Amino acid sequence: MDTPKRVLVSRQFPEIGIELLARAGFELTLWQKDRPMYPSELADLSMNHHALLCTLSDMITKPFLQQCSHLEIISQFAVGYDNIDVDEATRLGIPIGFTPDIMSEATADIAFGLMIATARKMFFLHKTILAGEWGYFKPRGNLGMELRGKTLGVFGLGRIGMKMAKRCKDAYGMEIIYHNRHPNPRAEKELNAAWVSFDTLLAQSDVLSVHCVLSAQTRGVFNWDVFKQMKPTAIFINTARGPIHNEPDLIEALCSKKIWGAGLDVTDPEPMAKDNPLLSMETVCVLPHVGSGTLEARNGMSRLAAENIIEFYQTGTLPHVVNPMALGRKKNELP
Ligand code: DGY
Repeated sequence: MDTPKRVLVSRQFPEIGIELLARAGFELTLWQKDRPMYPSELADLSMNHHALLCTLSDMITKPFLQQCSHLEIISQFAVGYDNIDVDEATRLGIPIGFTPDIMSEATADIAFGLMIATARKMFFLHKTILAGEWGYFKPRGNLGMELRGKTLGVFGLGRIGMKMAKRCKDAYGMEIIYHNRHPNPRAEKELNAAWVSFDTLLAQSDVLSVHCVLSAQTRGVFNWDVFKQMKPTAIFINTARGPIHNEPDLIEALCSKKIWGAGLDVTDPEPMAKDNPLLSMETVCVLPHVGSGTLEARNGMSRLAAENIIEFYQTGTLPHVVNPMALGRKKNELP
């Protein structure tokens, strides 16, 4: 690079990606605070940068993009990018990078872990110990359910859903059914998974695990009308995005025993309020959006996010791009 490109780094990402960028000759502005930038801070700081390395907590909205249309690339540290107005970025010729697959194992572990924890009421029982309520052994108390031979329904059988399904098949011989817009031949071959209609998914799943993206089509899909079609013994798992389920409807479905339990790594809103009724339910386990929270996954995400920027400036393309149509379009200069 003749003149170094300036990259705004919106959070304290793992060192590995920052070092790669520094070594490749980029000039970096690192946001040092623990909290995300306020929208005005993000817009102001972006003004004199060529590239932005950001994540879910940064709202890359249409007004932001119009104000910062000089940005040459936005590299997102996440597989999901529902915080970004991709259509507007494409229209403005700003390619969006993301970090797929590198965190699929970690996220599938959280989905699988939540399934078992919910089936055995683990979080609730842990709380009873903290409350000094570990009394006598109760032959009829604290009963959960077993998973062997049950049916896993996957809503959105892609990279992460596939790994969740494999865990369930290998560990418990679970039957795998799924609902996707397009069939997944690999899952059908390797896991004997069967594509079913959405109604069948609801009616037959003992565990229903959500792994789709958040979009206009999936927002609020799991609502009262849907929960009431599920088995009263069903467990609902969401490790994708909170707004895919309607939280008041989920609470109502659990309270009225339309479904049995829920394991959530994502909520709506995030963070969840500490007095949310879900947190005191016996058959609910909630985690604070930690699906990709392993050293391996976060280091990998940091590396991929940096490589997206480096390769873009070296080759004009990105290894992991959300909107290839934005590549090669004419760019505005720095304001
Ligand atoms: C992602 O990558 O989209 C996760 O939700 C955040 O780690």
